[in-house]
Amino acid sequence: MCQGPMHEFLQALPKCEHHMHLEGSLEPSLLFDLASRNGISLPSPTEDPSFQSIDTLLARYRRFTSLDDFLHYYFIGMSVLITPADFESLAYEYFGRAHRDGVVHAEVFFDPQAHTSRGVAYNAIVDGFTAAQKRASADFGITSELIVCVLRHLPVEDGEKMYRDAIPHLETGVIRGLGLSSTEKGNPPHLYRDIYADAERRGFNRTAHAGEEAGVDYMASAVHHLNVMRVDHGIKLPEDESVMALFAQRNIMVTMCPLSNVELRCVSKVADLPIRTYLDNGVKFSINSDDPAYFGGYILDNHCAVQEAFGLDKREWERIVGHAIDGSWCSDERKGELRRHLEDVMVRYKD
Ligand code: ADE
Ligand code: ZN
Repeated sequence: MCQGPMHEFLQALPKCEHHMHLEGSLEPSLLFDLASRNGISLPSPTEDPSFQSIDTLLARYRRFTSLDDFLHYYFIGMSVLITPADFESLAYEYFGRAHRDGVVHAEVFFDPQAHTSRGVAYNAIVDGFTAAQKRASADFGITSELIVCVLRHLPVEDGEKMYRDAIPHLETGVIRGLGLSSTEKGNPPHLYRDIYADAERRGFNRTAHAGEEAGVDYMASAVHHLNVMRVDHGIKLPEDESVMALFAQRNIMVTMCPLSNVELRCVSKVADLPIRTYLDNGVKFSINSDDPAYFGGYILDNHCAVQEAFGLDKREWERIVGHAIDGSWCSDERKGELRRHLEDVMVRYKD
């Protein structure tokens, strides 16, 4: 990984993470631990030998063939989360890890439908996560927001019901925004237009996964039909210059996840991602970890992978991290603090 002064600089940058699924930060060690504590049976060795041990599971994680292949393991993994304390441990471990990587503000996704469908109460999930947010703020000074995701492999009406249940928390700010995730191909953004129109009317922040496995048409649809402020992944803009120009002109931020895109075979290597193209065309983006326990790296690993592939200079990183601050869903006051933190780091690491 990138060594020397650039590594230290990347570590020190005050990073905002915008694209991280809390359930995707479930490390195999915690997965097995919670399975045994909660009496959850994982697939037997004859059903799937990957679940024999932490090592065999980690080895399987290095051989995902597609988004759906990963999602199969992702949903089995999260089935061990039952009590508010489980959700709290999961999120608190992530915040600690993110803090060590230089994250100062994190906006994190979660998937209520995948838990309520197993009989877990909606409030158990939110109570656990908010307890972790409070502890992480006190212990690490990290600020955070929750983003609730509609799962697109389930019927749209299921997502609508979950969204209705989340409205009180979206109104009070306990949840800061709405997202759309899971199987992308065959579940285009326009199917969710009613949910997003309601969210827009109520003034909620909106983002959606698009242009991960599917093409730029899904990214255009997320803008035209859902009027999103951010697009998650969004690596397909080079397929259509006019959509790329629209993103640049409307300041629609793309939350990129380099290691995820390689692990899920969306690109064969990080160097194939349109990082340079986006910098040259004024498309704003942040660098994120997506599901760090599954993809072999947290946010700093993702920054290092981009550095190795593109050899960016410090001014370019200042731009990227500055855009991530501007595109965050936190207060202007907090953005000001993060901006000053960035200026301090730039002075400290001046060439
Ligand atoms: N849920 C968790 N990770 C995801 C990804 N990479 N794409 C879509 N949905 C997800
Ligand atoms: Zn994602």
